[in-house]
Amino acid sequence: MDIKGKVAVVTGGASGIGRATAEMLATAGAAIVIADLVEASGHDTVKAIEAAGGRAVFVKADVTDEADARRMLETAKEKFGSLDILYNNAGIAVGIPGYPQAEIKRWRRVLEIDLMAVILGCHLAAPLMDPTGGVIINTASMAGLYPYKEDPVYGAAKAGVVNFTYSLAPWAAKRNIRVNCVCPGVVDTPLVRKGIEAAKRAGQTAGVPATIMAPTAIANAVLSLIKDDAMFGRALEVRPSGPRLIETPMAPGTRR
Ligand SMILES: NC(=O)c1ccc[n+]([C@@H]2O[C@H](COP(=O)([O-])OP(=O)(O)OC[C@H]3O[C@@H](n4cnc5c(N)ncnc54)[C@H](O)[C@@H]3O)[C@@H](O)[C@H]2O)c1
Repeated sequence: MDIKGKVAVVTGGASGIGRATAEMLATAGAAIVIADLVEASGHDTVKAIEAAGGRAVFVKADVTDEADARRMLETAKEKFGSLDILYNNAGIAVGIPGYPQAEIKRWRRVLEIDLMAVILGCHLAAPLMDPTGGVIINTASMAGLYPYKEDPVYGAAKAGVVNFTYSLAPWAAKRNIRVNCVCPGVVDTPLVRKGIEAAKRAGQTAGVPATIMAPTAIANAVLSLIKDDAMFGRALEVRPSGPRLIETPMAPGTRR
């Protein structure tokens, strides 16, 4: 897909990976709907995009709420005339205390935001996308590809995103929509920084990896998935050494 002139909705676009991707998409010529719970940083992101000559609008939305999710997607059409790209990126971790000490309602919230909202976003976006073609990218994680003892509930949600992406792809392709997901390693964002600080306060050894990626590394990977029309139902793992397509028995095009 040629990004210039397209309209993208970026959830969790007020911070970290979402913000970096929104800014990169705007630089590439897309108009952006930033959807996030946090108003102040959402408006800051819009201002930064506009200051760089791009077009953007902020919608305060909880991606787990059906009415909010519908409104953020419809805003793309109302403000900018179409919905071409959805980046389902908003996410949280269980945090401290982790599993199993955290309250069960916290596990549910992680599953609601990290998995259920991705399913909901795909479901609501498909009928709004132009029949000539659309692209949906979901943020999973390396925690969804490998065992993740630090946060098993988060790992389960992200594994769900990977499998949902693989499984939804044929249905979406019939509607000219390509669905893919990105699986980042550790990225320098407020989510990770807050996690490290909370772990330190709780007296836990905070394992900061030697190489931590910039959010732009993930934004670059997301843009590559959007641009490449051959990408269909794929998971792109992003490590400091670079991106790598995941080949598993589940992935389309790989041996079963
Ligand atoms: N940072 C990492 O190392 C890393 C690694 C792998 C995957 N991820 C994933 O990348 C995505 C972005 O994470 P990040 O590190 O940029 O975090 P971040 O905290 O910097 O940004 C996440 C954004 O999502 C928003 N958000 C959270 N819940 C929301 C909701 N219910 N509705 C709307 N917006 C909501 C937050 O307000 C925030 O602005 C998440 O899905 C995360 O799980 C992050």
